[in-house]
Amino acid sequence: MGATKRIGILTSGGDCAGLNAAIRAVVHRAIDTYSWDVFGICRATHGLMARPPEAMMLDIQQTDRLLIAGGTVLGTTNHGNPFAFPLADGTLSDRSDEIIAGYHQLGLDALIGIGGDGSMAILRKLAQQGGINLVGIPKTIDNDLGITERSIGFDTAVNIATEALDRLHFTAASHSRVMILEVMGRDAGHIAISAGIAGGADVILIPEIPYTIANICQKLKARQERGQNFSVMIVAEAVLTETGEPVMSKNYLGQARLGGIGQYLADQICACSGAETRVTVLGHAQRGGVPSPLDRLLASAFGVAAVDLIAEERYDQIVTWQNRQVVSVPIAEAIAQYSTVDPNGTLVRTARGLGICLGS
Ligand code: F6P
Repeated sequence: MGATKRIGILTSGGDCAGLNAAIRAVVHRAIDTYSWDVFGICRATHGLMARPPEAMMLDIQQTDRLLIAGGTVLGTTNHGNPFAFPLADGTLSDRSDEIIAGYHQLGLDALIGIGGDGSMAILRKLAQQGGINLVGIPKTIDNDLGITERSIGFDTAVNIATEALDRLHFTAASHSRVMILEVMGRDAGHIAISAGIAGGADVILIPEIPYTIANICQKLKARQERGQNFSVMIVAEAVLTETGEPVMSKNYLGQARLGGIGQYLADQICACSGAETRVTVLGHAQRGGVPSPLDRLLASAFGVAAVDLIAEERYDQIVTWQNRQVVSVPIAEAIAQYSTVDPNGTLVRTARGLGICLGS
């Protein structure tokens, strides 16, 4: 066993199920195997910006029940890029040096960052600038990091969306309605295509495949003609209108957020087919709650492997899932590969093979 180390861990970006399971795995491996000290840093890089830095020493007792706990006990944020941090007067300031100083004030030998592509890019830039020994763990319900087959949080999000479709089938049939489920996924349709197949959707719309309202209405009509009096659709939030515009809403700060394509489609479908249509926007329910067994497993494997990378002093690496194994790759390589749904891939071919309408 090597010399004792002090390591930090933080969660960054949007939360998801399985983050606490990864924290638990890191604490277990670092303390049980290596007898290191582990510091949980609060609210992503904001904790390192605070003075004194906001961090807590983590021990094994604190990990009880973390395996199944939703959210992240460390807190997180998807606001405030430290290189262009918004100040109260509306100007932007580069606060990267404060974060780097916070890391060194804590006397850390290494940092584990759990995040998606955006967080990883920021953490890597900080690490390069400030001599931070960084190791990454991928998480995102969007599953859009191309280098890893799976990221923490995706499986749970798919389970939740699938369960929503299961439930919508029954109420759709009772009322002879078209039910539309709008799901997250940022620019990729991974959640929609996976949950759509698993949940038996009749129509799946993803941003990777263009659609027409006429094609959707034709599918609904064909079902009606076969005596199927209802239909269930799933749509990814980044699907554009038929004329190619994104559907977004602005919050009180003026920040644009994806959302609303479900209602747009409902209005168009109602106008074109006369079908009574209702919309469910699943939203952040996809990010909360108890992680699925697969996410717990992934988080546990990633947490252990990340600590082992630090033991081997292999930094600037991120753990990934490839061919049933945890494989580490350079973070730069990981964030360069954004993954969307392959329009010619297995899932799309499966959906077409099942007679699911993809809108095209
Ligand atoms: O990237 C994860 C994600 O949940 C996206 O699927 C979604 O578009 C976005 O975050 C929502 O962000 P917020 O939590 O800021 O509303």
